[in-house]
Order: sequence, then structure tokens, then C-alpha cells
Amino acid sequence: MKIKIAPSLLSADFSQLGSEIKKTEKAGADLIHWDIMDGHFVPNITFGPPVVKKLREMTKLPFDVHLMIEKPDNFLEAFVEAGANMLSVHAETCVHLQRTIHHVKDLGAKAGVALNPATPLNMVEFVLDELDFILIMSVNPGFGGQRFLPSILPKIRKAKEMVESHGLGTEIEVDGGLNEENVPLVVEAGANILVAGYSVYGKGEIARNIRLLRRSVKKAVGSERLGSEPRLENLKKEMR
Ligand code: DX5
Ligand code: ZN
Repeated sequence: MKIKIAPSLLSADFSQLGSEIKKTEKAGADLIHWDIMDGHFVPNITFGPPVVKKLREMTKLPFDVHLMIEKPDNFLEAFVEAGANMLSVHAETCVHLQRTIHHVKDLGAKAGVALNPATPLNMVEFVLDELDFILIMSVNPGFGGQRFLPSILPKIRKAKEMVESHGLGTEIEVDGGLNEENVPLVVEAGANILVAGYSVYGKGEIARNIRLLRRSVKKAVGSERLGSEPRLENLKKEMR
């Protein structure tokens, strides 16, 4: 599966969101990750549908909208109408998760379920075949620039095994604290969508930061350090 870089605007310069998005697209990012926060599910408030809609005109990149909000069903339509191509809801906020997933797909967006670090994978076991992706949080949601939780690596591995044992092509997205050092481990564990906020927008040039992330993944996949399991061999072929 192609490794996709999804910069999170949470750490971008909010006074220049338009030009930050244009620079991000020019730098070869695959997705734009929107962290939507309501001040209830997480102790922070960020963007709403009007902001997403305004920025939709700025880029052709798919919008990967991460809903860290309570009662997400109330906002699915508004975010799809604003231009969301992928919508992830937190399992912790959905009493009727299977119905919410269908609601997302009926609206024409790709459906994902996000899991906080402590939330077990089996929350998605019985809806796995209906998901386009799983979003595995490697920090506690609410803020950018936090430290990656290494305890999440086995969870990524287990998610990959679960997807493969069901014979599915569900993508695995990881979100939180990703940087040059840890992206090789996250990819090797089975993730193919990498959300990065601070390591793309926090310091220095956006283009250079994205290049460094890609190079780090490529380098690691090629190195012996990660062993030469058959899956890694395939990954190497895909990365060429
Ligand atoms: C947490 C957010 C962040 C963001 C990525 O609620 O979901 O994880 O996307 O931010 P960094 O890469 O700065 O951790
Ligand atoms: Zn996010």
C-alpha cells in the first residue's frame, strides 16, 4: 500500500492557512488532515465546517477530517458538504457506531474510526469490513506537538494483523507525535497513512520537513534494522 503523508493543520500558521495549504500541496503531501475539536470530547476548540469549506477552494488534495467531537452524527453532512473526502469519528463518541459509519458512506465520504490510545482494537472488530481506514491515536487527542506513545506500536501491528486476517484492504492511519525518528517504526508496524502536525509545520520549511519524513520512511524500509520480513520486501518494492 502507498505510504501517504497527511500533514495536520493543527500546527500550521492559522493566519496564513491558505498559503500553508498551497505550500503543503506543492511539497507533495498526499492528504490534508483537519483536526476538528469541540471543547467537549477534547479540551480544545479548532475549526468548523465554514473554515474547511473556505479552504476547500485552495487545493485539490483530499481532506482527511478527524472529528474529535461529541455527537458527530450531527455534523457529518456539514463536513462532507464543506469538502471532506475522508471522515473519521471516535469510537468513544458513538453509541451506534455501525449506523454512524453507514451515515458517512451514504454521504459519499470514506469512513474511518479513530481510537484513543487506551481504547482497545476490538471496538472496531465487528465493523471492520465496512471501514475504509482505522485511525490509531498515538497521543491523547486535543493538542499538537505531543510526544509519541511507543506503547501504540504493538496496537498498530495488531490492527494490521486483524485487517490481513480478514482479507481486507483497510488502511491504517496513525496520528500524533510522528517525526523522522518514529515514522519508520510506525510504517514497519503496518501503518500507511502518517499524520504529522508539529514535524511539518512546527519549525523550518514545510517542503523540507515533508521530504525528511519521506526519506526517513524510505531509508528505514530499505535498511536491515527492520529485518527483511516478506511484507517489508513488498513494501520496498512499492516504495521504489
Ligand atoms: C491530536 C491531533 C494531533 C495532530 C498531529 O488531537 O490529532 O495528533 O493531528 O499533531 P502532532 O503531529 O503535532 O502530534
Ligand atoms: Zn488528528
